[in-house]
Amino acid sequence: MKTITVVGLGYVGLPLACLCAEKNFKIYGFDIDKNKADLINSSQSPIEDEYVINKLKNIKNKINATTNADECIPGSDIIIVCVPTPVDRNNSPDLTALMESVSTISKFIKQNSLLIIESTIYPGTVEEIVVPILKKQKFDAYKNDIFVAHCPERIDPGNKKWTIENLPRVIGGITKEAAKKAAEFYRSIIDADVIELSNIKAAEATKIMENTFRDVNIAFVNEMAKSFDKAGIDIIEVIKGASTKPFAFMPHYPGAGVGGHCFDRNEWIFVKYEDSVYPIKIGELYELLKYYNEVEIGETRLVNPGNLEVLSFDLNSKKSCYKPLKLLSKRPYSNMLRIKAVGNYSIKLTDKHPVVVFNNGLKIKPADGLNRNDRLVVSLELPDLDIESEINFEYSNLIQKTIINLQENLKKLKTYPGVEIFDTFAAIKIQSVEELRGDYVYSLEVKDTGTVVTTNGLVMHNCIPVDPYYLIEKAKLIGFNHKFLSLAREINNSMPQYTVELLENELKKFKKTIKNAKVGVLGLAYKANVDDTRESPAFEIISILKTKGADVFVFDPYVRKNSNVEDLDGLLQKSDYIILVTDHDEFRSMDTSKLKKYKISVVIDGRNCLDKERIKGMGISYHGIGRS
Ligand SMILES: NC(=O)c1ccc[n+]([C@@H]2O[C@H](COP(=O)([O-])OP(=O)(O)OC[C@H]3O[C@@H](n4cnc5c(N)ncnc54)[C@H](O)[C@@H]3O)[C@@H](O)[C@H]2O)c1
Repeated sequence: MKTITVVGLGYVGLPLACLCAEKNFKIYGFDIDKNKADLINSSQSPIEDEYVINKLKNIKNKINATTNADECIPGSDIIIVCVPTPVDRNNSPDLTALMESVSTISKFIKQNSLLIIESTIYPGTVEEIVVPILKKQKFDAYKNDIFVAHCPERIDPGNKKWTIENLPRVIGGITKEAAKKAAEFYRSIIDADVIELSNIKAAEATKIMENTFRDVNIAFVNEMAKSFDKAGIDIIEVIKGASTKPFAFMPHYPGAGVGGHCFDRNEWIFVKYEDSVYPIKIGELYELLKYYNEVEIGETRLVNPGNLEVLSFDLNSKKSCYKPLKLLSKRPYSNMLRIKAVGNYSIKLTDKHPVVVFNNGLKIKPADGLNRNDRLVVSLELPDLDIESEINFEYSNLIQKTIINLQENLKKLKTYPGVEIFDTFAAIKIQSVEELRGDYVYSLEVKDTGTVVTTNGLVMHNCIPVDPYYLIEKAKLIGFNHKFLSLAREINNSMPQYTVELLENELKKFKKTIKNAKVGVLGLAYKANVDDTRESPAFEIISILKTKGADVFVFDPYVRKNSNVEDLDGLLQKSDYIILVTDHDEFRSMDTSKLKKYKISVVIDGRNCLDKERIKGMGISYHGIGRS
């Protein structure tokens, strides 16, 4: 009997460990979370997943969960890594858990074992990161000292039709033998095709292609929904119609989407106008420009900055440069962070804002995902600002002070602990990340480079979001610009704002506003019948509602700890209007007569899963995404 260790017992690793146990392998689970290990050892599931809950009961203590690698790795023939690679729905993935786990494994793994990576990774990761870690322990994966393969996980938690047992898998290996061994293993546990690809990069790229396919199609359908809504056409009916075509159409559904990222008004940028460079606070630039061309889209306001350029930093050439400023926007947002680094370096931005960091190379990470290995990047190629020259500008004193500060800080930079100086930039140690209350926030989009040099020379990414598109960022670093994918992200990111606007538009019909409105939000999870809230649009929606002054009530049967009411009835009782964000079965199948009973007057169906005719029939306003 072969022995297997599954490393990382989450949504991916735990179902796999259960399946291996069922197939009579000797099975260990290795995780750094002791609580999880203890729960699993007492046959309780640490995740709200029906499949796992049932399996753990059936297999009765067959998984030996541990936090000690030396208990399980040395005796294992197969080790499967399922650790998180967060920021998994767009931008640069954080590979810390992968590196740490493989490093631990490499210290205990025995010669000729099979090491499979299931975590989502970008093409090249196994060869560039995993293989060198093994090499440090004198294992040459190209010579099959360890058989190394990648089998991207496709699991869709909560999906009852497609489970780990019947989903086909693709495999790539560092060597042909490794791919073959991994394929044999999967064939022994699943009842579906297992396809061996010719190399490991192709297997890594397969997963990225699958995620991207979904995102692009959802963006397409979100755009159609917005357009059809204006034309009074029900998108769901149209999708139903188009789905009858037996080939070349695959239904995707519009929905409330995910969010965007901004800076505090007091952060500085360097603006070039007619050959002169002015440092200016982003909020002040907005106020100056708004008189000319402000456009209001709900609570978000946009200005077109005309022919201004801003100081940017090209992540490819690692040089600073001026790039056209395409758009500047202002909107309310409630979750902000202050990142403080050595010296006087600090920046205030929205919690998920993409930040350029140096961590074994330049990367982009969301602000709330920064860890101790990340360092902020300061551009050393700041504009040659001549403080003696006359500046005919309202804020000239402030500007001069800023420039002096900036120049002094740059001079002192080398003296700070842990600062690494490169040709064109410095990498500086983060000291703290502090949570702050929200306010109006400002975002800007910079052409081509997508980065902006802000306060004291700190390099940040602009507002184009974090998510399945680390491909966009990775491609940028190797000199390719994914226009199509960036556009898809832009559309999908506009959906939380759009969802709130739907409510506002309905309220306008009753001459009401969102301020002090009692709004119930149904669902926090990112998809139906799971408790996973990562990347869920619910948080962005709640944040927009709160910033606009609404009283927000939240209920998710799978995420009770973040709900502020007991149950659905409690939520309906307290609310006048509801926004459905997650299509949990409990919401889909709710007795809609309760809406009438609790005097709900507007229903915004962010997942188009409620019975619109019945709701409208009760005299309640109904608006879905692309249907009303
Ligand atoms: N959840 C999904 O729907 C899904 C689907 C397909 C692919 N994936 C990919 O699978 C991978 C795992 O995702 P998940 O959703 O299971 O994550 P998860 O957060 O649910 O579980 C990961 C587990 O790994 C553990 N862990 C973290 N660092 C570790 C370390 N150094 N050593 C050992 N254990 C460690 C964590 O404690 C946690 O229990 C990710 O790369 C993800 O992108 C996820």
